[in-house]
Amino acid sequence: MPEHDYLTALLDAYWFAPPVALWRAVELRAAAQETFARPLLDVGCGDALIGRVLFGSGGIDAGIDPWAAQLRAAARSGVYRWVQQADGLHLPYASATFATAFINSVLEHIPDVAPVVREVGRVLRPGGRFIFTVPSDAFRRLLDAYQVRLAAGDPEGAERYAAQVDRRLAHYHYHTPGEWGELLDAAGMEVESARYYVPEPTARLWDRMNGRFGIGRRSLWGMLASPRLRPLGTQAILQRWVVQTLGRAWRPYYEMDVEPGHKGSGLLVVGRKLR
Ligand SMILES: C[S@@+](CC[C@H](N)C(=O)[O-])C[C@H]1O[C@@H](n2cnc3c(N)ncnc32)[C@H](O)[C@@H]1O
Repeated sequence: MPEHDYLTALLDAYWFAPPVALWRAVELRAAAQETFARPLLDVGCGDALIGRVLFGSGGIDAGIDPWAAQLRAAARSGVYRWVQQADGLHLPYASATFATAFINSVLEHIPDVAPVVREVGRVLRPGGRFIFTVPSDAFRRLLDAYQVRLAAGDPEGAERYAAQVDRRLAHYHYHTPGEWGELLDAAGMEVESARYYVPEPTARLWDRMNGRFGIGRRSLWGMLASPRLRPLGTQAILQRWVVQTLGRAWRPYYEMDVEPGHKGSGLLVVGRKLR
């Protein structure tokens, strides 16, 4: 069966922020290699864009998110059978309800993840799987501007740059697979697998493109892509350019795997509930 083209799907959806599309497309390519037994819970489901692209209409049983506006979009999407406004700290479900819990690009934004991991352990059935993606322990080191500063003999500058990225993206931690193993262990789960995605060349391109497209600051691209200019109708041209031109130029980076023995900027962990 041909592999799903997540790059085109996400460039089309996130044309206004192309580097976001690149990262998320690589992430979905990694997640799509897993099997998601149902009933399936999506913790921090956001606006359902990722759920829709990965699982399709009706593909997820339950989604929770604390953010009301995002949740309303998720409810309209038709992807979830039920959505509820809730925090990962207090999941509104009975113990042992789900066969799979999925958490995509959420845990890095929660300063103390241990109680959330325990809650996930509680709502999983014995043998159920906890599948999550996070930026990895190599994330900061693989930033292009970090490497450039380091190569120029400026380790403090490299650290300052990485700290700036942490603030912009609201990242609170970058655990190693071993540290995730300890967190899962304390919640009655074991690590079944942990694999890196977003190889170094892709991570460095992503970082450079965040600068080029002015992500996180005022920029010409940000102005052209602003929702205020939507009535002019010119954004369809930008969207087509992003999908066609960047879809071609970035495809090798999207399709690249992390070489065995190397780290990538993203980490996909699969845990299994023991009892
Ligand atoms: C980067 S978005 C990811 C959304 C979605 N999972 C995706 O992949 O598109 C992070 C989401 O985590 C949610 N979130 C933040 N803190 C949370 C918490 N303590 N429990 C559950 N969700 C949380 C936010 O509201 C937001 O929708």
